[in-house]
Amino acid sequence: MTSSTSDPDAALDAGTLAYLPECIALDLGLAAGSIQAPGRGGVPSARAVLGEAVTDPEGPLHELVNESEFGEGDPLLVIVPGSPDDERLAKWRDAIWPRWHVVALYTQDGWRTKRRTMHGSAEVGKATQSCVVLAARRTSHVMSPAATVEKFDSNAQGWDGEPGKPGYAHFRWMRKFVADYGGPIAANSSILDFGCGAGWVGIEAAKQVTGAQLASFDPSPEMVRITGENAEREGVRNFTGRTGFGEAPPFPAENEPPYDVVISSGVVSFSPDVEAWMDGLARSVKPGGQLVVGDIHGESFGFRRRRKRKPLLPVRELNAQDPAHVREGLESRGFVFHILSGYQLTWPIPEAMHVDATKWNGVLSPLFLLMNKGGAGLGRALNHALAPCFDSWVMSFSRPR
Ligand SMILES: C[S@@+](CC[C@H](N)C(=O)[O-])C[C@H]1O[C@@H](n2cnc3c(N)ncnc32)[C@H](O)[C@@H]1O
Repeated sequence: MTSSTSDPDAALDAGTLAYLPECIALDLGLAAGSIQAPGRGGVPSARAVLGEAVTDPEGPLHELVNESEFGEGDPLLVIVPGSPDDERLAKWRDAIWPRWHVVALYTQDGWRTKRRTMHGSAEVGKATQSCVVLAARRTSHVMSPAATVEKFDSNAQGWDGEPGKPGYAHFRWMRKFVADYGGPIAANSSILDFGCGAGWVGIEAAKQVTGAQLASFDPSPEMVRITGENAEREGVRNFTGRTGFGEAPPFPAENEPPYDVVISSGVVSFSPDVEAWMDGLARSVKPGGQLVVGDIHGESFGFRRRRKRKPLLPVRELNAQDPAHVREGLESRGFVFHILSGYQLTWPIPEAMHVDATKWNGVLSPLFLLMNKGGAGLGRALNHALAPCFDSWVMSFSRPR
């Protein structure tokens, strides 16, 4: 991880560092309980749970955290004395999930305090103790609509990929794989890309047929803008973009018909309310229409391994949905399930691809792409039997007339 100055979670420093000495004093001297450090002098409020008293991360930590005492943006600090390794810290993260999501780690080694987040690491002060503090925010705060829009607006170009860069061919192939998954699309179909990002899944689907009408939406206005540009460049003439969330989709608006084909790729793991999201998805498909849904597979070997070893993870990896749950949810909404496959080979392939892209200028990326294409073909042939060998799943459904 590299040092970063534009780390949004750096805002936690003030509260954490201001209250750490008193949290630690309490931790070392008092019995189990939580302490409150109300905001004062411009320093945001923070609360701490005494990790010392709850030596077992699988123990009843929730009982110590009285959420009603927390203000909306208040962080929860979990202090773990000594020098716990990352695997142990990951257990502490799991102990407070799903209500809280760990966004930063403050490691004190007796001399200095280092902050680690998903965005980088930095030295942020002195220390007289040895401990690690997990700083968590409410999951509802991290996954709020405002946080989602900000996150994707600020990194929209990153999600568009860069032609010619290592991994770009793989990025585009994955989108095409999902776009093609539901089978042939009839001419003149209306297609909806549900959570479009930079738009590639919907664009690939629309390019398959003549006369397609493509509608794409995303919470991030920047993503919708980029999708419009990409659609135009790719020759998709009949395109409409809107902003909105899957839980209350902007397509179809009142008095508009639902869609012949709806595709949602890599979106459901970002939803804070999966039932409402599936309601929105189901409403958008017309009777007789087809639906394709795909996302990351939280129970793949690779994601399980990452969860065990890495205490800091993107919230979507913890919120990843089991395809069986999504299938059940859509069947209960009247859809007929057709097929489930895995794609994107799991550990160690993504890690190897990362090393190849960052250190070897992508010389092996054609080989990895070939392996992923072959793996996906096998995954499809074997249906869901090999699902944990892949980091992503995709399913197709139809809606009876
Ligand atoms: C991983 S990207 C996938 C984008 C695109 N579908 C693809 O496959 O390339 C996830 C996208 O979902 C959007 N998103 C996040 N929460 C959402 C929600 N609740 N409803 C719809 N889209 C959402 C994000 O803004 C982001 O563009």
